[in-house]
Amino acid sequence: MPRHLLRDDDLTPAEQAEILDLAAAMKADRHGFKPLAGPKAVAVIFEKQSLRTRVSFEVGIAELGGTPVIIDALSTHFGRGEEIGDAARVLSRYVSAIVIRSNVDARVAELARHATVPVVNALTDGFHPCQLLADLLTVRERLGSTQGRVLAYLGDTANNMANSYALAGVTAGMRVRLSGPPGFEPDPAVLDAARSRGSVDWVRDPAEAVKDADVVVTDTWTSMGQEGDGLDRITPFQPYQINAALLEDAGPDAIVLHCLPAHRGHEITSEVLDGPRSAVWDEAENRLHAQKALLAWLLGQE
Ligand code: CP
Ligand code: NVA
Repeated sequence: MPRHLLRDDDLTPAEQAEILDLAAAMKADRHGFKPLAGPKAVAVIFEKQSLRTRVSFEVGIAELGGTPVIIDALSTHFGRGEEIGDAARVLSRYVSAIVIRSNVDARVAELARHATVPVVNALTDGFHPCQLLADLLTVRERLGSTQGRVLAYLGDTANNMANSYALAGVTAGMRVRLSGPPGFEPDPAVLDAARSRGSVDWVRDPAEAVKDADVVVTDTWTSMGQEGDGLDRITPFQPYQINAALLEDAGPDAIVLHCLPAHRGHEITSEVLDGPRSAVWDEAENRLHAQKALLAWLLGQE
């Protein structure tokens, strides 16, 4: 049975640490690892938009010696109703791994059920585990270790990034605080899963959430697909904006992360995004190194 990464807690703490160690080694020797030489092909399917994920996977697979096959759903039968399980069976005959960005977690799970190669979630409405591997690598680089560090996530705590910070954060030994407005609370099932591994607090007051935090993160207030949901996704979120005033009580060495794309002046100010605490450009670069390590690790499990 192939290993998959569909949500962050598919990895044990030891496995997550192993992938992050490998990512750091790959970053230090960018062209020194060729586990996909042969070459092996990897399919990367997009049913939603992307910049970072698309380019970092395409470049990363090539750097590992493999052939990236980027599939835009609209130009294939993915966009016109081919059964996802049938597509999984077919793709498994061509490629060594399948990476997919989709809306529905159940659809990705169905793909994984029928695939005979590893499947990687490259963002769903529920989770973004590839992003979290990059974020944790960045925390390690900036702060030395993730263990015992406090991570405060502010904004839409009902979205994929909040879920992934909760699950991956505790897996890395971090203490996670989630803070957002009424109506955008975290999924109780995700909270339960995260709390089975570590500490996750729901904190309504953003200042309380950020106090003495080591890592302060946010994400867009309107995720892909939510543009027309009829909810006010600006006014209730204003107190959760990451700005210089809010960061005053954060830990002295606190860093700021954002998965990007950012909406300057909404969830984060330009002053913070471009300021000394911001690690967002390293974070974006680390998508490449973390995903290379993930693919190499998954293929090594077979
Ligand atoms: N952070 C992230 O996943 O960016 P893209 O949507 O551009 O891939
Ligand atoms: N929550 C955002 C993350 C983008 C990388 C979205 O799903 O659109």
